[in-house]
Formats: sequence, structure tokens, C-alpha cells
Amino acid sequence: MTSFTRRDLAKGVGAAAAALAAGKAGAAPAAALTPTHQRFPDDFLWGCATASYQIEGAVKEDGRGPTNWDVFCHTPGRVANGDTGDVACDSYHRYGDDIALLKNLGVRGYRMSIAWSRIFPEGKGAPNQKGVDYYNRVVDGLLAAGITPYVTLFHWDLPAALPGGWQSRDTALAYADYAGFMAGKLSDRVHDFMTVNELRCFTDLGHQVGVHAPGLRLPPAQVNQIRHHGVLAHGLGVRAIRAQARAGTQVGIADNTEFCVPVMETPEHIAAAKKATREHNAMFLTALMEGRYIDEYLREAGAAAPKVQAGDMEAIASPLDFVALNVYQPLWVRADDGPRGYTEIPHLASSPRMASPWLYVGPEVAYWAVRLVSELWGPKRLYISENGASADDPIVQGRVDDADRVMYLRNYIGQFHRAVAEGYPLRGYFLWSLMDNFEWADGYTKRFGIHYTDFATQRRIPKLSAAWYKEVIRRNEIV
Ligand code: FCB
Repeated sequence: MTSFTRRDLAKGVGAAAAALAAGKAGAAPAAALTPTHQRFPDDFLWGCATASYQIEGAVKEDGRGPTNWDVFCHTPGRVANGDTGDVACDSYHRYGDDIALLKNLGVRGYRMSIAWSRIFPEGKGAPNQKGVDYYNRVVDGLLAAGITPYVTLFHWDLPAALPGGWQSRDTALAYADYAGFMAGKLSDRVHDFMTVNELRCFTDLGHQVGVHAPGLRLPPAQVNQIRHHGVLAHGLGVRAIRAQARAGTQVGIADNTEFCVPVMETPEHIAAAKKATREHNAMFLTALMEGRYIDEYLREAGAAAPKVQAGDMEAIASPLDFVALNVYQPLWVRADDGPRGYTEIPHLASSPRMASPWLYVGPEVAYWAVRLVSELWGPKRLYISENGASADDPIVQGRVDDADRVMYLRNYIGQFHRAVAEGYPLRGYFLWSLMDNFEWADGYTKRFGIHYTDFATQRRIPKLSAAWYKEVIRRNEIV
């Protein structure tokens, strides 16, 4: 494959644009458009993502302790159909099959998560060697297949034994101990760690909205305190990983920042979307990147603002080697003349969505996520730690032709390509998900995989989207 630098890409885009402009005047040869072909740089990392509770099953095996999600799933009325992660994709036993799927796709990276309660069944105390052994086997298997593991240390499965869960500051400290311990065990083979997955989900969805574990609806002061414990866990985790992992280990976060997308690409709407993105994420990514809670947030929170101890903000703002983003739906924003300078535009009944009611389609969010985070905070490197879609996925004559998911992916990846072509430091993409799995409160009713999981037999069937993604990877360009 020809070596293609980002500068070449940018040049290619520029040339194509010029050709297009000339074409409008009636002179451009069509061939002038082909070189861009939405090709990615040679070192762009294509990958897939999963998470421990969503795929592993084996919840009582080899000393694993119960988690908040085990408790939540077994509480009647919490999860669709009363589904649980007890078996899920049975990846605890079938991880070899999963690695074979990854290898067949040709991905170079796999984003996986560690179940904290396999390592510390009670969240802290004595480690469980059998849990460590399991992840050693997975990591070794990936490396033997030529696949680079990207390890998330917390993807929502919190050891149930920790008193108070995220309501307690001690949970942030326990997390840091666990994160440092585990990074120390793996960093001879794992180069990249993500501290936590989606701050907003494990804090707000679990404690404000109540639709995720532990299913609470707490008042604002407590919610803000929980958010603070979440970002503190991240920051203390970064420090602990750096203290215990090999020198050179790369540390970042996987965050589902709320991305505000300008309704028009004009300077005033772009400025509005940027300001809105910074303010909407004041308690999460903005705090991590700026080392303080911005005035707008503190003013709005008033007496319900979080209680911050000396040194917390320094820990929270620990420098990161990369920022990884989970990108799904847009939040459209327009400029206005009010004091904030922006207005959020609600989704409408006619706004396009995929199978999950929350998953509005707006490919432009992919470009703006990368651009706005880059412009606001200048991270050294960016990854997309998740992007993907739920779809209906009927099996027809043994095939799953998910052209709707392919449409979604092609459009989003096209917008990521635009960001790469313009020189933003996006280095890789992890598709959510390798296979259908336990989709949290939706149980098994929503399928996000590019492989169809038959949960009765555990057979995995490649969908059309798997064939499509494989071809994208093989050619390193959008097909
Ligand atoms: C994200 C979660 C991931 C998965 C996708 C669909 O919010 O991080 O575990 O459920 O949504």
C-alpha cells in the first residue's frame, strides 16, 4: 500500500476541492477527484470494542465478586425482559472465538475492559489471582493474534461490596488502588489504558435518572458529589497507573462527552457549539482538561455544588497521553442573542434514529467531536473508543444484511475521515461492537454487533457490516 501521510491527505482534499470548483466551471477532469477516496493514513488503528459485563458471563466463576449490575439485573422490573449478564456472550469461556473473529476482520486493536470484581471481589483487599490469570490469557491471546489490546479499567461493573458505591469518596480511592494494581500486572504487554468509560453514564444514569445500576434518583447536591467522585477516581487512577505501570505506558479516558454540533458551518454557529460543548461537559471532560469547575457550572449548581477537597482538582487534571471519545448522537445547537449565546435544538419525531430510541443519527457529530475537543483543549492524541449503531438485524436465509448499520457507519466514518484529513490528531477507531451483547437496561433487545450473536447457541454470525468493515480495513479507505 502506498504510504500516505496526513499532509498528503490534506493536500488531496484541497486538490479535490479545487478540482470540484474548477469542475463547476466545466473544466475539471473527473479523475482529479479520485486520489482522496477517503483513504486513511497508513498507521490509522482500526479496532473493535466490547466491555466485560456485556460479554463475559461467568458471573460466579473463579472467585468473581458480585457487582452493582448483577444486583440491578436481578431486581425485577429494572432490565428489559428481566435479562441479565449472567451468561451474555459467554466470552469468559469463548474468548478464543472472539479473538478469531477479530483476527478475521483484520483489526489491529481491541478495546476490552477488566471486571474489577474479578480482581478484587470485594472492590479492595486481597487480589484474586484467578481473575488476573483470565486477563493474562486474553491479553496473551490477542498479542499472539497480532492484535493490540487497549484496556479500559472500569466499564460500569462496580463491585457491590463497596459501601455506598459511587456515593462514597472511598470508592474513588479503591478504584485508584485497583487501577494501579491491574496496570502493574499488565503493562509489560499492554501499552494503553483507559481509566473509566463514560463518566456521565455511570454517574447520572445510575444516580439521577435511575435507569442504570444502582437505579437511584438523587437530588442535585448528591448527584454533583457522585460526579465529583467519578472524575476524582479517574484522576487518582491516572496517577496510580503511572506509579505502577512501566515507564511509557499511555493513559487516557473513554468519555461520551456531550457533543454540540453547529446547525450551520458559519463562524457564529461554530462558536456557539464550542461554548455549549464546554459548558455541557463542565462536570466531566471540561474539569479534567481545565483542572477546575468552570463558573457557569458552579453558578448553576449554587448550594448543590460538589464538595472539593484540597488537591482534588490537581489530581482530576492529571495530564493525559490521549483522549478517547465515544461518539453516537449529535446535540444540535444554534447561536442566539441570549446571555449564553446558544440554544439546543430538540430532536423531533421526524429526526432519524437507529433501533435504540436515544440513537439519533447525525454523522456530522463525528467530525465536530474531534474538532471541538481538539480546539478546546488540544489533546496530544485522540481515539474514537466507541461508535456504532443498533439495528433490527433479522436473519433472512441465514444472512443478516444490515445495510442500515452500514449506512450509519459509512457516514460517521466519512466524517471522522474529514477530521483526519484536516489534520486533527485522530489516530484510531474502535467500532462498537464486535458482536451483539448485553445492552444494559435494554438487555438483549438491542443489537449493536457487526457479528450476530445467537444467544441460545452462542453462535456468532458475521453480518453484512462485518464484511463491509473488513473491506474498509483491508483497503484502509471507505467503501
Ligand atoms: C455506550 C456504552 C457501551 C454500549 C454502547 C451502545 O454508552 O459505553 O457499553 O452500551 O453505549
